[in-house]
Formats: sequence, structure tokens, C-alpha cells
Amino acid sequence: MISSTLSSLPSSLPHREAELILAQAMGATREWVIAHPEAELNEEQRARFEDMIAQMSRGTPLPYVLGEWEFFGLAFKVNPHVLIPRPETELLIEEAIEKSQLLKSQLPITNYSIADVGTGSGIIAITLAKKLGNVEIFATDISGEASKVAKENAQRHGVADRIKFIRGDLLEGVGKVNMICANLPYIPTHERETLEVIKHEPRLALDGGDDGLRLVERLLDTARDHLLPRGIILAEIAANEGEAALRLAKNYFPTAQSEVKKDLAGLDRLLIIHIA
Ligand SMILES: C[S@@+](CC[C@H](N)C(=O)[O-])C[C@H]1O[C@@H](n2cnc3c(N)ncnc32)[C@H](O)[C@@H]1O
Repeated sequence: MISSTLSSLPSSLPHREAELILAQAMGATREWVIAHPEAELNEEQRARFEDMIAQMSRGTPLPYVLGEWEFFGLAFKVNPHVLIPRPETELLIEEAIEKSQLLKSQLPITNYSIADVGTGSGIIAITLAKKLGNVEIFATDISGEASKVAKENAQRHGVADRIKFIRGDLLEGVGKVNMICANLPYIPTHERETLEVIKHEPRLALDGGDDGLRLVERLLDTARDHLLPRGIILAEIAANEGEAALRLAKNYFPTAQSEVKKDLAGLDRLLIIHIA
């Protein structure tokens, strides 16, 4: 019975997580599991459930155990080749939507285009394709395994025809676009080695070099050649990188309007550059 299965689990496993795992093993929703404490698991479901509980006890993060995670109200496939979507990245999405709508209303743009650099599971490219509708998106990643996951997610959400996936370094293979969005690795190398919470996620998705801004700097260095007039850059950054990121923006785009936006926790999170 569901109720006795749940009560037999170690108390260190939060109840909500146990319910999500049980729901996944039974091919049901968490709401259904909660509403049917008397339901029985068949042999196959029990084996799946026990396998997932064993993965949890080895320290595998819940999203990898479940094989999917929610971002901006959409479910995305995830595996250990991609970063687990973080709620902080919703700020980039909100700003990208608002600024895209403004730009489209002010300029006679027929083919509005965006580059999502370091797409990972594809959450930025896919969410923007769904929310903006009429947009062409280039989604790049240096990892072929990540690109594979992003393509599957684009198919799952019915936007694969609007996204071109490119395996390459930063903006390699991307033409000129109206907006560049990037959530590139931004954890300084020395911090990454000590952070327990991210040790299961790919190094390629986290390591931002000695000061966390190496990839953002390389992106800014090449971005000008890929931006159309009045183009915009949105780059997610770490909480303590605001000032340094603004210095980089001034260095590479001295005449642009640059700012750093804070997330809901009041921490520096998003570098925004409006090219003149
Ligand atoms: C922090 S993760 C972000 C993934 C996804 N955009 C998100 O917000 O969840 C960074 C991604 O950048 C990719 N990446 C790292 N270096 C890169 C490079 N030089 N060019 C393109 N992508 C890169 C990694 O493979 C990883 O998928």
C-alpha cells in the first residue's frame, strides 16, 4: 500500500520528495498518490521505486533521479549531462520576454532572433520559443550530450522547428541576432571544488574560471559581431559578481547602457547590456 511504503522510508527523506518518487515509479502525479493511500504498487513499480530510493541514498540529486524538473511552469528532461534548472534563471526569462516585446514594438522587425548560449537542457531557448511565439532561436552548447537533451526537450514542447541547435564554442555558427541570452558557467573554480550541493552536476556547466567571469568575458569579446542594431545582451552572473561584470561591460561596450539586476533574494543576478 502507498501509505505503508511511504512510512517505511528513512525519516531523512523529505515526504514531498518521497511522494514525487513514488508518483514517478507509478506513472502517476503526486496529487494522485496523495489521494490514493490505499493503492498497491505492482512488481515493476516497486522495483522502479526501490531503484530510485537507492539512487537517492547514494546522493544523486532528486531531479536526476526523476529524470525531469520543472522550470517556468514547464517540465524538462534532465540527466547528469545538464545543469539542473534553477529558479534564479527565471529572472533572465522575464527580462528577455519584456525586452523582446518592447524591441519588437519599436523596430520594424520581421525576423526577430535570439541566441541562447550554453543552452544545457534548453530551458531558456524553449521557454522563450513558447512564450514569444514568432521568434527564431539559435541554441548553442559545447557539449554534444547537452545538445541532445535540449533537442529532446524542444520536441517535447513542440518548438523544435523554431530552434537551431549548434554544438560549438559560445557564438560559433550563430549569425546576427537581436538578443543574446546566456547562462554560462559562473562558479569560480576554487569554489566549485568545495560546494557539496553541485558535485553531481557537470563541471562544464559550472566552472567559470578563476573569477567566475572567464566565459562571460569571452562572450562579450565576440558578441558585438553577432548583434543587430539596438541589440541586447542578458547574461546570468553569480551573486557576488555584479561590480566586476559591470566593469567588463564598460570595457567591451563603453557606449552601451549597462546594468545589473538583482534576483528575488536581493542578490546580483543578471547583467543587461543595451547596445546603442
Ligand atoms: C550553467 S549551465 C546553463 C544551462 C542552461 N542554460 C540553464 O540555464 O539551465 C552552462 C552551459 O554552458 C555550456 N558551456 C560551457 N562552456 C561553453 C562554451 N565555451 N560554449 C558554449 N557552451 C558552453 C555547458 O555545457 C552548460 O550546458
